[in-house]
Amino acid sequence: MTNKKIRKAVFPVAGLGTRFLPATKAIPKEMLTVVDKPVIQYVVDEAREAGIEHFIFVTGRNKAVIEDHFDIQFELNATLRERGKTEPLERLAAMQPAAGTTSFTRQQEPLGLGHAVWCARELVGDEPFALLLPDMIMQSRKSCMAEMAELYEHTGGNVIALQECDPAEAHKYGIVGKGRDVRNGFEITKMVEKPKPGTAPSSLYINGRYILQPEIFKILATQERGAGNEIQLTDAMLTLAKSQPFHGVHYRGRTFDCGSPEGFIEANIAFGLWRPDMHAHVLSAIERLSTEVAPPQ
Ligand code: UTP
Repeated sequence: MTNKKIRKAVFPVAGLGTRFLPATKAIPKEMLTVVDKPVIQYVVDEAREAGIEHFIFVTGRNKAVIEDHFDIQFELNATLRERGKTEPLERLAAMQPAAGTTSFTRQQEPLGLGHAVWCARELVGDEPFALLLPDMIMQSRKSCMAEMAELYEHTGGNVIALQECDPAEAHKYGIVGKGRDVRNGFEITKMVEKPKPGTAPSSLYINGRYILQPEIFKILATQERGAGNEIQLTDAMLTLAKSQPFHGVHYRGRTFDCGSPEGFIEANIAFGLWRPDMHAHVLSAIERLSTEVAPPQ
């Protein structure tokens, strides 16, 4: 185990997105837009804010468009320049990763999140890395991964982010037991995937952000299929936790599951309200529409 600086982040974007069909038939769910940016852009920005220097995407079917999104579009830039559109040009430049700081690999079959992470092993190499599930986007002044990186600098090892759920819903999530406080986080004493009702050690659930040591790859290489007949990351983390410490950050910002239409709509409302130039418009639209619109009888 090392406490080397976290330089690389992995984004698994190879899921089938079945909850969002037909929208995701030809477009990956990570390219659906929240206000005016694709979902994946929010997650990459979060990683960048935490000091990540290299962005690794594990892609699948129909994911070439993600690669295009993070590339420079010469023709578009030339046209914008010709037309004197400096503001959009500046916006594009601000999001552009530097040359050589993105890598793409394919998960040839969607065998589960654990398998997708394992597909990044050669690109990550022998160093700890950040893992961000790109369908979960977060809203707060300080990014979730930045809070985790701060704790990691102090603790090393593995760090995960947690959020409070309704205790009655704990059986749907990966839940942790909370130990001694450490800096801006705490020791994790236990991890349970989908605990039986009434047995959860807390209501803190794993929200899709991880800092993991490279030893996870060796475990994933032989990890058997688990829930849903998929290779599960949580199963491998449970094995890793037997030999390495895990710490947690209780993230208190808002999280939106953009893999479901309901979460995606909430994200659009929340990020619209978050924008100073849109706040008033979005608010008045919600107020007006909530009295005018109901499902047709
Ligand atoms: P999800 O289970 O939320 O994604 O996986 P999914 O399978 O695309 O969604 P549904 O349930 O069919 O609607 C969590 C994350 O892991 C990635 C997904 O892209 C998502 O970001 N993933 C999942 C992979 O990259 N490969 C897989 O085999 C499974």
